[in-house]
Amino acid sequence: MSHDNNAATVAAAPLYHDTVVRQFAVMTVVWGIVGMLVGVILAAQLMFPALNFDIPYLTYSRLRPLHTNAVIFAFGGSALFATSYWVVQRTSQVGLFLPRLASFTFWGWQAVIVAAAITLPLGITQSKEYAELEWPIDLLIAVVWVAYAIVFFGTIAIRKVSHIYVANWFYGSFIIAVAVLHIVNSAAIPVSLTKSYSAYSGAVDAMVQWWYGHNAVGFFLTAGFLGMMYYFVPKQAGRPIYSYRLSVVHFWALISIYMWAGPHHLHYTALPDWAQSLGMVFSLILLAPSWGGMINGIMTLSGAWHKLRDDPILKFLIVSLSFYGMSTFEGPMMSIKTVNALSHYTDWTIGHVHSGALGWVAMISIGSIYMLIPRLWNRPQMYSIPAINLHFWLSTIGTVLYITAMWIAGVMQGLMWRAVEADGTLTYSFIESLKATYPYYGVRLLGGLIFLSGMLVMAWNVWKTIAPPAAAAAPLKTAGAHA
Ligand code: HEM
Ligand code: HEM
Repeated sequence: MSHDNNAATVAAAPLYHDTVVRQFAVMTVVWGIVGMLVGVILAAQLMFPALNFDIPYLTYSRLRPLHTNAVIFAFGGSALFATSYWVVQRTSQVGLFLPRLASFTFWGWQAVIVAAAITLPLGITQSKEYAELEWPIDLLIAVVWVAYAIVFFGTIAIRKVSHIYVANWFYGSFIIAVAVLHIVNSAAIPVSLTKSYSAYSGAVDAMVQWWYGHNAVGFFLTAGFLGMMYYFVPKQAGRPIYSYRLSVVHFWALISIYMWAGPHHLHYTALPDWAQSLGMVFSLILLAPSWGGMINGIMTLSGAWHKLRDDPILKFLIVSLSFYGMSTFEGPMMSIKTVNALSHYTDWTIGHVHSGALGWVAMISIGSIYMLIPRLWNRPQMYSIPAINLHFWLSTIGTVLYITAMWIAGVMQGLMWRAVEADGTLTYSFIESLKATYPYYGVRLLGGLIFLSGMLVMAWNVWKTIAPPAAAAAPLKTAGAHA
């Protein structure tokens, strides 16, 4: 039975379905550790290529998509499923629509992740970034996603309050946009069970891919997590959202502008020049709604700043918004063609990615999951608050080490590659730029290890919080049963 919430014991309180929320919350931590561990291995391989041990399944090219799929879709995806199912029930004052279908989304999504973890190291791939998985897995993703949409929008449809809270708008737009992006970009002609060819060709294929790729950032890595922000920041701060009007304005601005910015990934390519400029202009405009979201989140704390001093969960949430603001300032700058001429192909892009990925996506998810766990298991609070504080500092220091190392390395690489002598020959060979990058790869590896160790602290803390208390576990042990 999934009719299992503590709220059910309160007369007339709605019956919430939280089994699926619990499952996704735990898997967020598990996939976070797996995905980041693969990230650390990649960072180590870039320093010591021998770490692939000449085993094809461990080559950098195969592990890299495993990392991106694991952190974005398994870790980020599980956090989004868990929080959206929690939020839509509380803000609609009703249990999930079709809870069995919700349970199917959990098992279906885990099946997708396991299929990815098997096929990617085997080298089975469509070779489209963030859309590598082959067509049978793509079909499963489409089915799971439609089921997710039915559960989410069905719950909104049967809501007991007339108002649709703003967090649901963000979650809803993320669900619809990801369905459209996935179905259009994954259109392919299969030639066997493990091989297919894109339905598009040439520059059109590239354009469709980066329309998908950028909106994966805009809707998967941004809109969904803004949904998280709009519920968990006001809840944890104990304050209403700073400006409801701003939330409406920046929602519509964000979703209508994001769709056009994709060509900034294809500057100086065969894509028509006007399309590149269009992408650049829309990216620059995107700064405004992005900062609208950040300001709305951070200013929610106005009058309650003191809470930041001793609430490490709030620290996670607010610092994540600062990183969101930083990466959405950096992104528009990098979309300017002349800046992109320097940054593209360099580690600057990797620094930008991880200031968004570690600083924003991971930290807001971690904060939200820390808020959810005690409520889901009916505990007064997390087992150890100092451990959350420790995790916060490990995450922040890890992120800062990672991104500053990549910024310095990236700008250095860009400058070294374009440096020319008076006679027009290159000042530096590529190998020289690689050698100069080594120390920064070391710092990035250290930052990654620190961030990952924070996740291990989280796993311990979550385990201690949800494991049955020792008194309850004792009789089981003597009876010889292992729960
Ligand atoms: C206003 C917001 C943003 C804009 C305009 C923007 C713009 C850009 C630009 C210009 C690039 C470099 C493209 C290239 O040279 O190949 C880039 C790369 C990237 N950005 Fe952003 N960015 C924004 C926010 C974010 C956020 C918040 C995240 C993550 C959570 C993010 C994730 C990425 C990723 C993953 C890539 C690398 C794509 C790839 O080449 O594989 N971006 N972005
Ligand atoms: C311990 C934490 C992490 C470490 C050590 C790490 C490390 C790495 C490394 C070494 C790469 C390859 C860079 C290259 O090819 O030059 C990479 C790529 C990437 N990572 Fe991570 N990562 C971590 C966490 C994350 C998280 C949490 C996310 C997303 C939520 C993420 C998203 C990405 C993406 C999107 C790329 C591809 C970037 C591009 O193509 O431009 N990473 N990561």
